Amino acid sequence: MKAKTPDFTNMNRTLANILIDIVAALLFLGMIATGYLLRFPLPPGSNKSLSLWGYTRHQWGDIHFWISLGLLVVLVVHLMLHWNWIVTVIAKRCRLPKTAQPSLVRSGVLTAVVVILCITLFAWSAQYSVKEITRPMRGKRQLNEPSVTAQAYIDKENIEFWQDVYPIFETHCLFCHGPQRQLGGFRVDRREDLFESRGHEPLVLPGQSAVSPLIAIVSGTKKNMPMADKHTLSEQDITRLKAWIDSGAKWPVKTDAGK
Ligand code: HEC
Repeated sequence: MKAKTPDFTNMNRTLANILIDIVAALLFLGMIATGYLLRFPLPPGSNKSLSLWGYTRHQWGDIHFWISLGLLVVLVVHLMLHWNWIVTVIAKRCRLPKTAQPSLVRSGVLTAVVVILCITLFAWSAQYSVKEITRPMRGKRQLNEPSVTAQAYIDKENIEFWQDVYPIFETHCLFCHGPQRQLGGFRVDRREDLFESRGHEPLVLPGQSAVSPLIAIVSGTKKNMPMADKHTLSEQDITRLKAWIDSGAKWPVKTDAGK
């Protein structure tokens, strides 16, 4: 150290190191916490029906991403602050003669180039490997499609329960009315819960979608419905449910167990 105020710069460095390490530790904890949220309280597929502290799974995923990026930046800064030390240790390990002082700048730039190259290559190959999933569904019908095309695909005469109807329940209702929770004592995966009158009119009146309470619930016309926003479905899903009810509301015994 040739500078006049070596203590001052040293102190600054130590302080910077401590600060950077604290920030890195906090970001790391944030990454674990958001990772936990994404894995357990908001599992894959819950994006449509759940939120936590005002954010959906999708938004938590964004937060997770930015925290990870922050951690990456902080780790790079950390490396830079310790660059002197890293180069010295490596030089010692490789038994480079003391006189052959490696150029800090050159090795720094080289490392940066290699790291950036690796990251770019990874990002590029991931970007180009994304494929559209061709759903293993019979026919051309798909859920979650833009309504105009999907509307055209609804084959009202050939509505099939496990194919066309149950997936709607599965996506939008099962989480609150299934094996995990039975809010209101109602389970959407139990045939009798939809067809039997349990102190009130059955939810589904086969052949009569216009008066089936289920349709009133999912189209938002039922009065005083608790959590009404969780119960309203898209136009195309309602059309599908109506078509199913009007064609007799068949609920065949499930044969292919794997589906
Ligand atoms: C976020 C959770 C949630 C989701 C998702 C949800 N519900 Fe509900 N549902 C409730 C709650 C809460 C009640 C009111 C329970 C009570 O009255 O105690 C309820 C009540 C009901 C009832 C009335 C039960 C009865 O007979 O008293 C029906 C029927 C129903 N839901 C059907 C559905 C259907 C169909 C879907 C999917 C389109 C759905 N729910 C999605 C939370 C949910």
